Amino acid sequence: MTAFAGQVTLDGPSGTGKSSVARAVALELGAAYLDTGAMYRAATVAVLDAGVDLDDADGITRAVTQAAIGIGTDAATEQVTVDGTDVTERIRGTEVTRAVSPVSAVPAVRRHLVDAQRSLVADATAVVVEGRDIGTVVLPDATLKVYLTAAPEARAERRAAQLGVTDPARIAAIAEDLRRRDAYDSTRADSPLRPATDAVTVDSTHWERHQTIARIVELARERAEA
Ligand code: DC
Repeated sequence: MTAFAGQVTLDGPSGTGKSSVARAVALELGAAYLDTGAMYRAATVAVLDAGVDLDDADGITRAVTQAAIGIGTDAATEQVTVDGTDVTERIRGTEVTRAVSPVSAVPAVRRHLVDAQRSLVADATAVVVEGRDIGTVVLPDATLKVYLTAAPEARAERRAAQLGVTDPARIAAIAEDLRRRDAYDSTRADSPLRPATDAVTVDSTHWERHQTIARIVELARERAEA
């Protein structure tokens, strides 16, 4: 089998297991991998550390454009830095998760990070890029665009399993948080979350993780050979 060459975009709402699926697809295709959500999260660290109010779009933009956000494109390792400090764990915490939607809704922040994303993948022969607007905005000419979705209840249960949560009330709270973030991300004025017109929608509600990965790898190979 020839090596895969091309760009795969993976967009969709929170909690579909998108990041872990995207990373596994990249490893299987021998491709580079970019987690753009991690970049918005790192930008949020810069905003929080600058003490900027989340209503202050200009202050947010200044904090983000002045920060040095470091992210690798190796699918086998995950390391994210802000001004040289490792924030790989911190970006997954609740403080960052709560603040990331307003930061990522600021148009100047998006322009800045979209430019960085395009530069990071410009030289890659094969790459999987994961986010919300990759197929629609960042890489509109990608080889394969996937929109990965799953029913909110399935997403909440997967997130709960990841966190080791079994209490039904806490699972309901996770589902509510997912709905809130979906609503925010899909109704923002700049680059709202939606499938690209030429995206293949993959609904993983009833699928095991390995089935989702295998389906996307198969689609990518088909496209690359076509
Ligand atoms: O995928 P994630 O949960 O790590 O993403 C974090 C946030 O960043 C999420 O609320 C939406 C936003 N995001 C975005 O607006 N555009 C992207 N390309 C990736 C993430």
